[in-house]
Amino acid sequence: MKKLSARRRHPLAAVVVLLLALAATGGLYAAFAPAGTAKADETAQSLAIEEGKKLYSVGCASCHGTGGQGTSDGPSLVGVGSASVDFQVGTGRMPAQQPGAQVPKKKVIYSQAEIDQLAAYVASLGAGPITPTDSQVDPAGADVAKGGELFRTNCAQCHNFTGEGGALTHGKYAPSLEGVSPKHLYEAMQTGPQNMPSFPDTTMPEKEKKDIIAYVQAVNGEKTVSPGGLSLGGLGPVSEGLFAWVFGLGALIAVAIWVAAHTAKAKKS
Ligand code: HEC
Ligand code: HEC
Repeated sequence: MKKLSARRRHPLAAVVVLLLALAATGGLYAAFAPAGTAKADETAQSLAIEEGKKLYSVGCASCHGTGGQGTSDGPSLVGVGSASVDFQVGTGRMPAQQPGAQVPKKKVIYSQAEIDQLAAYVASLGAGPITPTDSQVDPAGADVAKGGELFRTNCAQCHNFTGEGGALTHGKYAPSLEGVSPKHLYEAMQTGPQNMPSFPDTTMPEKEKKDIIAYVQAVNGEKTVSPGGLSLGGLGPVSEGLFAWVFGLGALIAVAIWVAAHTAKAKKS
C-alpha cells in the first residue's frame, strides 16, 4: 500500500496516468466507433432490402417469381447482382411489357432511389456483379486510342465501329450506344444483357472498360460535330454502296417505266 502511494507521488505518475487514459479512450473509440457505423450501414442496408422487396412484389414477382427464382415468363434473378438490376431497370428495359425477340429500352418508371432498393433486394438473393461507383465509371484520363482498339476487337462486330448499333439474327439487334451513360455502359459490359456477351473484370479489367467508355464518348461527341453533309449513318462503304444501289437503281427503274409508258402511249395514238 505504502509502495503504491509512494509511486503515485512520483513526478511522472500523472503523465503515465494521462497516457494510459488516452490510450484507453483511443482503444475504446477504435473498438466501438467503426462497429457503430457498420451497424448503421447494416440497418440502412436491410431497410433498403425491405423496401426493395415490396417494390419487387408489386412490379417484378409476376414474371420473376416471389423469391426471384424465375417463372416461365422471366428468368431467375438469383445471382444476377445489383449491376444487372441497375442496368435493366435504369434503362427502362425492366419491367418488361410484351414478349418479343428482345426486351426494348423504354421510359424509366422507377426513381434512382427505388432502383437502388430493387437492386439491394435482388443482390440479397445471391452474390453477383455489384453496381459500379461513380469513380469506377469515370472515363477522365482514360486512353481513348486504346479504347478504340478494344472496341473494335470486342464490340464493333455487333455495335458497329462507332457504336451505331446494328441488326443481329432473329429480329434481335445491338442498339446504338449514343447517349448511353458511362454507368450503363459499364454495367452492360459487366452483365452482358440478353444476347450480348459479358466482359467481367477478370477478362476485361476496370481500366479497359474506362478506355472503352472514353472512346464511345469521344465518337459520340464527334458525331454531333459532323463535318457537314449527310453522314449516311457513318456506316462506311457498305451503307454508301447501299445508297448507290437503292437510289441509282431506283432512278434507272423510274426512267424505264417512263420510257415504257411513253412508248405505250405512242403506240395507242
Ligand atoms: C412481363 C414480365 C417481366 C416483368 C414484369 C419483369 N421482368 Fe425482368 N425479365 C423478364 C424477361 C423475359 C427477362 C429476360 C430477357 C432476356 O434476357 O431476353 C428479364 C430479365 C431481367 C433481368 C436480367 C437478368 C440477367 O440474367 O441479367 C433483370 C435484372 C430483371 N429482369 C429485373 C427485373 C425487375 C427488377 C423487375 C421489376 C421492376 C422486372 N425484371 C420485371 C421479364 C419480366
Ligand atoms: C454479340 C454481339 C454483341 C457484342 C460483341 C457486344 N454487344 Fe453490347 N449489346 C448487344 C445486344 C444484343 C444488346 C441489347 C441487349 C438488350 O437490349 O438487353 C447490347 C446492349 C449494349 C448496351 C446497352 C445500350 C443501351 O441502349 O442501353 C451497351 C452499353 C453495350 N451493349 C455495350 C457494349 C460494349 C461496350 C461492348 C464491347 C465491350 C459490347 N456491347 C459488345 C450485343 C453485343
